Amino acid sequence: NLPQHVRLVEVGPRDGLQNEKQPISVADKVRLTDDLSAAGLSYIEVGSFVSPKWVPQMAGSAEVFAGIQYKPGVVYGALTPNLKGFEAAVEAGVKEVAVFAAASEAFSQRNINCSIAESLERFIPVMEAAKSHGITVRGYVSCVLGCPYEGEVAPEQVAAVARELLAMGCYEVSLGDTIGTGTAGKTRTLFEVVGRDIPRDKLAGHFHDTYGQALANIYASLLEGIAVFDSSVAGLGGCPYAKGATGNVATEDVLYLLNGLGIATGIDMDKLIAAGQRICEVLGKPNGSRVARARQA
Ligand code: HMG
Ligand code: MG
Repeated sequence: NLPQHVRLVEVGPRDGLQNEKQPISVADKVRLTDDLSAAGLSYIEVGSFVSPKWVPQMAGSAEVFAGIQYKPGVVYGALTPNLKGFEAAVEAGVKEVAVFAAASEAFSQRNINCSIAESLERFIPVMEAAKSHGITVRGYVSCVLGCPYEGEVAPEQVAAVARELLAMGCYEVSLGDTIGTGTAGKTRTLFEVVGRDIPRDKLAGHFHDTYGQALANIYASLLEGIAVFDSSVAGLGGCPYAKGATGNVATEDVLYLLNGLGIATGIDMDKLIAAGQRICEVLGKPNGSRVARARQA
């Protein structure tokens, strides 16, 4: 009983680019975002309002938001770790933000410089401000299938953090396999445990493809009734605070899987491949999507 429709959350401009060392111009980020909306993506994570000392590549996010051509029906999101970031996002006209927590204490410290409990405390004023501005908030939990510092992470711990995020007002929580160590069996167990007290339509999967398991994990998630997945065009990306983590699963490859299963997404494969190819040329990198490479061979 697979879902009939899947929503893909395109995180390429944010998760895909945040780890790039070379400067990428605002114009190139705007072009990427516009190419993705033209390809039919209905949700694009455009940037982050985080400390520029921590993630220099995301420093120009306000300019990117000012430059994009807003397409009706498309959600343009941004990460906001605290009230300061939230206020900067509002200033930039952002209508949807995401707060991000972790299921592992060590990762929380390295990524956002505070404990899990402190991060959740910090999100409360963000949630309140978001409510008063009519801004919707998505939640993330990182390290759901393993932590680069602590190793194994218990599904119950993931469930506890996800529950807190939903209780404070997130409409959906995306569970992140930050370092891509998850396997299909573990993914099923994770959603089975987390899904015991959280409705599955409030959960999303966010798989990095470091170990080449992301598509298998997505299929395992589909079998658990999950119908929202984060992905990155051309498989761009990696997290600066998770050593060795590669990009998210490539959007093109997820689309190929879903098309093969007859699951609707509203995304145009040719336009998507062209968007990925263009940004790879800008970055001077090989395309990380197997489907894109096969189609161009
Ligand atoms: P901190 O140093 O503890 O913050 O950083 P602070 O409140 O003590 O402030 C220190 C300085 O940062 C001050 O500036 C603040 O103004 C400034 P100074 O006085 O030194 O000049 N500052 C800010 N500047 C801009 N925007 C802000 C902001 N907040 C404070 N929002 C902080 C705490 C959270 C800010 C920092 O740790 C940070 O920015 N971390 C970035 C984390 C990040 O972006 N990680 C990557 C995204 S998460 C991810 O990739 C995982 C995900 O994809 C899911 C998955 O794969 O699992 C989502
Ligand atoms: Mg990520």
